[in-house]
Amino acid sequence: MDSSAAPEHQNAAASVQRWLEQFRSCASQGQLATYIPALADNNPTDLGICLIGREGQTIRAGEWNTPFTLQSVSKVISFLVACITRGVPYVLDRVDVEPTGDPFNSIIRLETNKPGKPFNPMINAGAITVASMLPGDTVEEKVEHILHLLERFVGKRLAINEDVFESEWGTAHRNRSLAYYLKAIGYLEADVEVALEVYLKQCAIEVTAEDLAQIGLVLSCDGIHPWTHEQIIPVEVAKMTKALMLTCGMYNASGKFAAFVGLPAKSGVAGGILVTVPPRVADQDLPFLSGCGIGIYGPSIDECGNSVAGVKLLKHISREWKMSIF
Ligand code: DON
Repeated sequence: MDSSAAPEHQNAAASVQRWLEQFRSCASQGQLATYIPALADNNPTDLGICLIGREGQTIRAGEWNTPFTLQSVSKVISFLVACITRGVPYVLDRVDVEPTGDPFNSIIRLETNKPGKPFNPMINAGAITVASMLPGDTVEEKVEHILHLLERFVGKRLAINEDVFESEWGTAHRNRSLAYYLKAIGYLEADVEVALEVYLKQCAIEVTAEDLAQIGLVLSCDGIHPWTHEQIIPVEVAKMTKALMLTCGMYNASGKFAAFVGLPAKSGVAGGILVTVPPRVADQDLPFLSGCGIGIYGPSIDECGNSVAGVKLLKHISREWKMSIF
């Protein structure tokens, strides 16, 4: 909590602190993503949040500074890199922007739909296709593009958690099968093992809830960093990405999330949620009216792969502060 801030900001920070503790126990309704063995070491009752507004006003509560891996949140970043470096038409020729209503690791639509173009870049199939089209011939070059964009968002160099990467690399049988199938139907540009390694390395990049809030803030400003005024991503790419987050970012819970939270968001199985809140008009003075980014960390996830306590906390904040875009 920022104690030097105005009284209304301190009240808002105290509310967030209270709500966080209220929802922390909901972690018991979910489980850690132990299909990635290294994630079993996380503390299921951790819950952290960070909100950052356009003017720099910041609220931090709980385990906002605990590092965790991006996992599927990285799909937003790789999609942005692909659109910026390859151009939107090139990317959309190879991956669609339609929700599936299926689990994130589903393979079924690749075969039932011809020619099998992945439905969107937020599911594993689409993200592996996107990883294969990142510029560069090697894993290192491709991953570097992702790390570089992240550095522009958060202002510091992020690192890959090698333990988490190795742990998933050794157990990624389903993703490997997705990658081989994509190669067979012509939707993978790189070698299968290169695309898979890029994808799993991007998933293993370590962040905090505060880092996610910073990314969400830049998206809220349509790609412009509010403090440096640097255009980090083109406006039309930022807008398309937010639409994708809203329709596909929470997988087969995206409809409910849109209905009850009403904000573009992207989850990861390590418990992260990246949320972007656009500026809004309200009939009363509410926090973050000019938009903000929100980062959540809560590693106990539901059957869709979303942080149980995190989603409940977001639902509450969005309702209290009238943040839904609808
Ligand atoms: O590919 C996987 O299964 C993980 N590396 C990422 C999945 C994920 O985060 C889905 N999210 N909610």
